[in-house]
Amino acid sequence: MKKIIITGGAGFIGSHVVRLFVNKYPDYTIINLDALTYAGNLENLKDIETSPNYCFEKINILDAEALKAVFVKHNVTDVIHLAAESHVDRSIIAPLDFVYTNVIGTVNLLNVAKEFWKKSLDQHLFYHVSTDEVYGALGADGLFTETTPYHPNSPYSASKASSDHFVRAYAETYHLQTVISNCSNNYGPFHFPEKLIPLFINNIINNKPLPVYGDGLYTRDWLFVKDHATAIDMVFHKGKINDTYNIGGFNEWKNIDLVKILCSQMDVKLGREKGTSKKLITYIKDRPGHDRRYAIDATKINAELGWKPSVTFEEGLQLTIDWFFDNTDWLNNVTSGNYQHYYDSMYSNK
Ligand code: NAD
Ligand code: DAU
Repeated sequence: MKKIIITGGAGFIGSHVVRLFVNKYPDYTIINLDALTYAGNLENLKDIETSPNYCFEKINILDAEALKAVFVKHNVTDVIHLAAESHVDRSIIAPLDFVYTNVIGTVNLLNVAKEFWKKSLDQHLFYHVSTDEVYGALGADGLFTETTPYHPNSPYSASKASSDHFVRAYAETYHLQTVISNCSNNYGPFHFPEKLIPLFINNIINNKPLPVYGDGLYTRDWLFVKDHATAIDMVFHKGKINDTYNIGGFNEWKNIDLVKILCSQMDVKLGREKGTSKKLITYIKDRPGHDRRYAIDATKINAELGWKPSVTFEEGLQLTIDWFFDNTDWLNNVTSGNYQHYYDSMYSNK
């Protein structure tokens, strides 16, 4: 009977992973461990928050004593670690926040897991969820494979690369059983509207400019978030110990082409005249150190674990747009900051 801590479970991807595990594995106990930073939102989990195999622990991964206590309290068997500062633009403004959470927080968690499991290390797994950004930028050709050398360019990717190295080091040095996955750009329901797709959906709805960085010819490889969650499920259960898996949908888009498709689908959804939303596109100053192109070679996870994405990009984007229109309260709560009161109303008397 597994008792799994999922860190960052109140965030965008973490909430999908928590939901999948809670619903699919009723025999497991799923402990959502999250500090509820600006990016953590328990409203993302309203549908499963009363499930008997789910609980929430409001803990910062920088707090080693609180981590130890929670391992003891739940007799934790495994960790799936997603908690992180995740936005590149914020890392350029405040790099130390990324060092604290992504590097020191990860090492704290590794230490506590290693100590708690020291008599039975071969029975436990520390799964570290990482990003393709650790590999740096590609030129016009080529794909990131699991053996591409690390070459992080932003404070965010440097902090994630560092955390990946610590996970590997704990496997080598202390024989902690680990696995790492490096995924491309996610999109979908519950995406925080500071990232490209949800920000632009919100701006189009509100007739606000769409700020495209630089020449708009930067390329990202987009994956529907629920497909990332199913990949995490497979890597957790079937991945080789101390190995690493790249996750991506072979789905590259130049930013400007993606934005134009989004504008067209939004015009239809809003009943606006064709071409209306495109007029909102505004080219602005580039992001410093902006990586030109990311693209994942997901051959290994497909060949070894049989994983592949379940939706095309057009389908995923339509599902995402529909979700944001069906969940205007969620979007309004996030953009107004009201979601930050949800924890108090839910947990104040517990
Ligand atoms: P997010 O910013 O939406 O969520 C992060 C979560 O971590 C939030 O709930 C936040 O409250 C929590 N958190 C932050 N600092 C914490 C701390 N010190 N202690 C405890 N909890 C803390 O992030 P996301 O986009 O869901 O990404 C999740 C993970 O996946 C990250 O590790 C990220 O690097 C990785 N990743 C993200 C993407 C993507 O496209 N978003 C792609 C590949 C990998
Ligand atoms: O590749 C995986 C990574 O994808 C994750 O590790 C990160 O956590 C996640 O935030 C994401 O990073 P990006 O920097 O690629 O995502 P973002 O949505 O911020 O930007 C996507 C592209 O769009 C990028 O080229 C920058 C550009 N952009 C972004 C914003 C917010 C704009 O042109 N305008 C914008 O306003």
